[in-house]
Amino acid sequence: MELTQAIRTRRSRHLLTAPAPSDTQFTDLVRTAASAPDHGTLRPWRWLLLRGTARHVLGDALAAQATDGNGHRLRDKPLRAPLLASIIFCPHEEATRVPAWEQLAATTLLVHSVELLLHDAGWGSIWRTGGAVEAPAVREALHIGADERLLGWLYVGTPDGRSSPPARTLPSVRERVTSLSGRHPRRQGGAAPGRR
Ligand SMILES: Cc1cc2nc3c(=O)[nH]c(=O)nc-3n(C[C@H](O)[C@H](O)[C@H](O)COP(=O)(O)O)c2cc1C
Repeated sequence: MELTQAIRTRRSRHLLTAPAPSDTQFTDLVRTAASAPDHGTLRPWRWLLLRGTARHVLGDALAAQATDGNGHRLRDKPLRAPLLASIIFCPHEEATRVPAWEQLAATTLLVHSVELLLHDAGWGSIWRTGGAVEAPAVREALHIGADERLLGWLYVGTPDGRSSPPARTLPSVRERVTSLSGRHPRRQGGAAPGRR
């Protein structure tokens, strides 16, 4: 698939069925996606794949942190796709001058690249989060380290052809792309601002 077409036609898929990419296939996609811009090449992320009964571990944790009696509903949420790829942000806090926000930016670029590559290969995905990403029961069940942050899950599988989202309409962005006018008179005789 040509890149522009891939970007324009990717839609998040809410209905996903088996099969899903194998661990090897998914890892290969991540390897390619790791070409996304990453200041310092820190790769401040890791993935934890949940499939089959491992999804129940997450479902039980989601149910355990429910406070309003809807635990049974939450328990089944991870079963909505055959593969849940947990996105774990692992910022490097020492020995780097790359601030955490840049590392988070690099991680989200990676995730989007993975979504595009999945789409290109014919798979479907949707990035889901929710308050549960901060829940102690969920963090413990997925072995999220104290210095790590769970950014949610890519739900991955085969797009269910019975429910295709409408084709994307590209938004108007004209007013969001502006140019700085260069018609201001230059400062006379002084150094450039910020270079005194
Ligand atoms: C960080 C992040 C978290 C998201 N969390 C959810 C979520 O919990 N539930 C959901 O339905 N969509 C969530 N979305 C939105 C979908 O992933 C998707 O982008 C959105 O439905 C728009 O569809 P599109 O990707 O086809 O444009 C999230 C998106 C991002 C970037």
